[in-house]
Amino acid sequence: MDKDRSSQAPPHVLVFPIPLQGHINSMIKLSELLALAGFRITFLNSDHNHERLVKLTDMATHFARYPGFEFKTITDGLPPDHPRTGNWFMENYVEVIEPKTKQNLREILLNISPPVDCIIGDGFLGFVLDVGKDLGIPVICFRTSSPHGFWVYHSIPDIIQAGELPIKDMDRLITTVPGMETYLRCRDLPSFCRAPDMEDPIVKLVFKETRRSTQANALILNTTEELDGPILSQIRTKCRNIYALGPIHAQLNTRLKAKHRDPHDHFSNTLWKEDESCISWLDQQSNRSVIYVSFGSITTMSRDKLVEVWYGLVNSKAKFLLVVRPNFMTGEDSEGEDDVVRELLEKTKDRGYTVQWAPQEAVLNHPAVGGFLTHSGWNSTLESIVAGVPMICWPYFADQQVNSRAVSEVWKIGLDMKDVCDRKVVEKMVNKVMVDRKEEFAKSAAEMAKLINQSVNEGGSSCSNLDRLIEDIREMRL
Ligand code: UDX
Repeated sequence: MDKDRSSQAPPHVLVFPIPLQGHINSMIKLSELLALAGFRITFLNSDHNHERLVKLTDMATHFARYPGFEFKTITDGLPPDHPRTGNWFMENYVEVIEPKTKQNLREILLNISPPVDCIIGDGFLGFVLDVGKDLGIPVICFRTSSPHGFWVYHSIPDIIQAGELPIKDMDRLITTVPGMETYLRCRDLPSFCRAPDMEDPIVKLVFKETRRSTQANALILNTTEELDGPILSQIRTKCRNIYALGPIHAQLNTRLKAKHRDPHDHFSNTLWKEDESCISWLDQQSNRSVIYVSFGSITTMSRDKLVEVWYGLVNSKAKFLLVVRPNFMTGEDSEGEDDVVRELLEKTKDRGYTVQWAPQEAVLNHPAVGGFLTHSGWNSTLESIVAGVPMICWPYFADQQVNSRAVSEVWKIGLDMKDVCDRKVVEKMVNKVMVDRKEEFAKSAAEMAKLINQSVNEGGSSCSNLDRLIEDIREMRL
């Protein structure tokens, strides 16, 4: 690669996320943080998501303020009319996505000008390491899921070898994940570990890609020492150079403020249209009286389950704000989806409000919100922690099972409802967080929020780790 540029030129970093909302969120925010430090950024989005972002956001205007910030697109290997719902990414990864995208990435890197000094690749896209090695470009892996998730994925071969997988008893403690011996049950292992056979292609894919991430020049994790210190120490035994520089959304807000920019003026990067009307509805509710209910960007649910959640909410003593994403309902039940949503809306007018997609950060920071019934996706978990909102966790897949265990047993800022979908349980849990144990949870969540927010301020661990990343990339350029 031609590198005969002036040493005064800013480093050029190519950032490449998996084409999923939760991954784009944190990687585009990291890109903005690097752009604030003066870096030239090329953000590589799938064609499909790029089109959606262009339609739904002010992307071009927002990033025009950063000289050299460019978007490029890459194929995700699937035809335009593919529904891309549920776990479509992993299901198509080996056969379609990896081979097609790898070739396309190579072509992009060979033709890009100025040449790229460093790739920040999604830690799940192991092939980026091969391409980087081939072209002589350093690769830093960014694992957007939780460190708990990462460490359990990394330990899967050891768990299998110890005979603790396949699962025999869901409530048995797992002994082979260092650092988690006292609280990790089979039930808390990533959903993929529930496969009856460990030759399952998704199990193999997950642990292969995780082990590959540790071969990168370094690893970026969206967390802080204060939140995940013990697990980070374990991960460091496999990968010495870790940048724990999160929560990235809080870090970005802090750095925008320091530059006298409105922290709310960051790019919303949302793949669905945000319905701002829920903020006006929240404005009319009393402080900490509303439970916010959202299951992220991938979770799907049967109509029966959604109805159980809804009854639980309606029968509880709280008001609620419920997100029902388009394509959220699955299977035969998804017939007449709009009717179901309309019916729920009608019946819940006095108790709640329903939208298809919410401005989640603003919602969680609204004074009317006192709890979050969540699927425990890592971004949602961090957003709730930073806002000091206690959680009720109802994990769906991937790292969410272990995240919800950490929320309830390690950080003690919420309850874990995993594997149960019953209106009585939903009602009971909502009442616990919103009424019976309200002060206790509010206090622990507020303490945690304070600690985590300090880490992104000047002198805090995450702030220093981000500065170190910036310096290290600058050195790659020289
Ligand atoms: C999944 C995993 O669970 C997660 O742990 C992994 O790191 C990425 O893939 P996802 O279902 O997308 O994530 O959940 P989450 O990580 O919580 O991300 C969802 C994002 O969408 C959050 O940043 C949230 O603020 C945003 N969101 C969600 C909205 O903006 N509006 C909504 O109505 C719902």
